Formats: sequence, structure tokens, C-alpha cells
Amino acid sequence: MAIYLDHAATTPLRREVLDAMLPYLTENFGNPSSGHGFGRKARAGLDGAHEMVASRIGAEAREIVFTSGGTEALNLGLKGAAWAGKARGHRIVTSAVEHHAVGHTLRYLEKFGFEVVELTVDRYGRVDPDDVEAAITDKTILVSVMYANNEVGTIQPIAEIARRVHNHRGVLFAVDAIQAGPHVDLDVEDLGVDLMTLSAHKFEGPKGVGALYLRHGTHIVVQQQGGAQERHRRGGTENVAGAVGMATAFELACAERPETTRRLRRQRERLQKAVLAVDGTELTGHPKERLANHLSLIARDTDGNALTMSLDLEGIAASVGSACTTGSTEVSHVLTAMGYPDEEARGALRLSLGRTTTDAEIEAASATVPRVVAMMRTGQVAVAADPLGQGVA
Ligand SMILES: Cc1ncc(COP(=O)(O)O)c(C=O)c1O
Repeated sequence: MAIYLDHAATTPLRREVLDAMLPYLTENFGNPSSGHGFGRKARAGLDGAHEMVASRIGAEAREIVFTSGGTEALNLGLKGAAWAGKARGHRIVTSAVEHHAVGHTLRYLEKFGFEVVELTVDRYGRVDPDDVEAAITDKTILVSVMYANNEVGTIQPIAEIARRVHNHRGVLFAVDAIQAGPHVDLDVEDLGVDLMTLSAHKFEGPKGVGALYLRHGTHIVVQQQGGAQERHRRGGTENVAGAVGMATAFELACAERPETTRRLRRQRERLQKAVLAVDGTELTGHPKERLANHLSLIARDTDGNALTMSLDLEGIAASVGSACTTGSTEVSHVLTAMGYPDEEARGALRLSLGRTTTDAEIEAASATVPRVVAMMRTGQVAVAADPLGQGVA
């Protein structure tokens, strides 16, 4: 059996989540906009999903917009807020380590006259709140900083950045919390965010379902015209089963967070100790302010793509950094921004654990990963093996 250590890319659908979704794919199939009983059942499921997600982040149900995933939620929030603010200003402040769903969306807005200012980060990938404040001018309408980085796991000082942003009237603060997901507390009042995005497949929900939190009173220009769904903020018949699945997965993950986090941290530390014992390896991202499940490193004189292929042959699913750049010859913009030269950034490896990761898997990975990394560093080729001794699937 292969060991899956790529939960930052996606997670398996949880059984309880599938069970919650199934009625909305079968007998409760109605269109939530229909006035009859079938429609009302679907509407109840959808309304409940809004409530469930909202209550876990300290928001109101009407402040949640379900979308077709994290990328769409980011496009809706960022483009929507930018266009709505255009009359007041054209300057958007962001960090150099955002996911492409943010970076490329903002780059696209530059074509329409928006000015995008990218803040540098330190060696650990952290944004300095002082830099955020210094970058805000009277033309700034939006600041967008991710909560936790998908490649190196670093957590940003979001509440402190929000405080700085809100020293300036009328500037909105958007947070991509897709990787942070339920790993950290996401109370929008404590954090002080105006827009926040989530994606269900990062926490054992279905793929292709996301949510945008939009603080009540925040104006956005709608990006998908059509019907009046989602309170006129996203046209199109809603994915009721998906929304129910996302809400169920989120609720379970939030309720279990303390226990899950404790276990994941212990497991990650065990694996980290084993892998970093290999000469020429270095942890990337912040040593403490990082997601509990996230281990990222650089193995000097190796190639991350070759490394993940060798690990795959040994039955371990890992990634270079981000699922979107796997197989690409480009080095990570995140590691570049953190000051790593190209030749070091090429040896990036990400091992991300999940709720379903077992101690036995971590023990097996703690033997296999260091062996493969060491072999790659000395130019030896990895040999296919069966880390759990259960037969290679
Ligand atoms: C930080 C971050 N933002 C955005 C996304 C995009 O989310 P989705 O896959 O739901 O479109 C991801 C997914 O990897 C991510 O990690």
C-alpha cells in the first residue's frame, strides 16, 4: 500500500462527508430555486451548509458564497473587490509568496490599469506587517495576503497585518486561507479580515467546491452573471451536495482540530527529525510558525522532481512544493522570494500529512525518505520497495 504524504495537494473524501452528500445526489435532487417540495429540501440543505461554514468562522450565513473551488472564490473576491474599488483607487498590495490563484489573478488585473505591489518576505517566507503598512497609499483599495503557504507551510501574522490594513479607512483585507483550512482558528472577527477563501478538498471534502467569506456590506462586482443565486453574487444552479459536503467536512475538521493538530505535529516532528538527519538537507519555511502537518525541505544537489519520482517508486507520494508546478522545470517563486538560489530551490521536497496518516506510515516513511534522499544526493538510483510490507498496489 502506498503512503500518501501529499495532503497539501488534496485529501481523500471522508466517509461521513460522502454519507452527508449522498441524499442530495439522489432523493433530494431538487433545484434549490424551485418552489415545490423537492426544491425546498435542496434549499434546506444549502441553507444549512451556509450556516455550518459561517458558524465555524464566526460569520453569518449570508456572508458565505459557495463557488466551484478555491480558485473561483479567489477570482470572485479579488477581481470583484478590485473592480468595486476602482473609482477610489487602483493599488493592490500582496506578497511575493501567494499561490498562483492569487498571483496570476492580480497579474491579470494589471492589464486593466491596477497597480500590484508585491511585498518581499524573510528567509522563512514571512511578511513583515510594517512593510504592509508602508506599502499602503491613499490609492490602495485592497491588500491580499495568504494565511499559510502551500509550499513551505509558513503561517503569516494575519491578525497583526489586518490591524495595520485597517489603520487605513476603506482598504479591504483579503486572506487566502485555503491551505490553512481548518488547521488554524479562522474566526473572522478575531482575525479582522474582510474576505477569506476556503477550499473543501483540502480538508476531506469534495473537489471543485469552495467558499468565499464576504464581510456584510463589502461590495464586489459579480464575476459570473446569471441567476440570483448566492444572494446575487454568483449566478448558476448551486452544487448542493458539494456545499453540504464542504460544510460537513469543515465542521468535523474544526471540531477535531486540537486532537488532530497534536497528533500531526508529533508525527511531522518524527519524520522531520529523520529526514533532516541526512547531510545537505535544510528545513524550508518557519520552524515554529508553520502548519502542524507540513514538512518542507531542500536537499542540496538533488532535483525535487527526480526525488519525488524515486519516492513514488518506493510507494511514497510526496511533491516538490505545489501540485500545480510538479513536473515543471521552473523553480518555485516562493523559494526564490525567500532568497534561495535556483540550484538550491531545485532540490525542494514537500511531505504533508493528514488526519488519516498513521503512526505506522510515519515510521515507514522515516526510514524510506532519508534513505532515498541520501541516495539521490550521492547519485545512486532508488530501488522500488514496499515500505509497509503490504504488497505494492
Ligand atoms: C494556498 C492556496 N490557494 C489556492 C489554491 C487553489 O484552490 P483550488 O484547488 O480549490 O482551486 C490552493 C490549492 O492548492 C492553495 O493551496
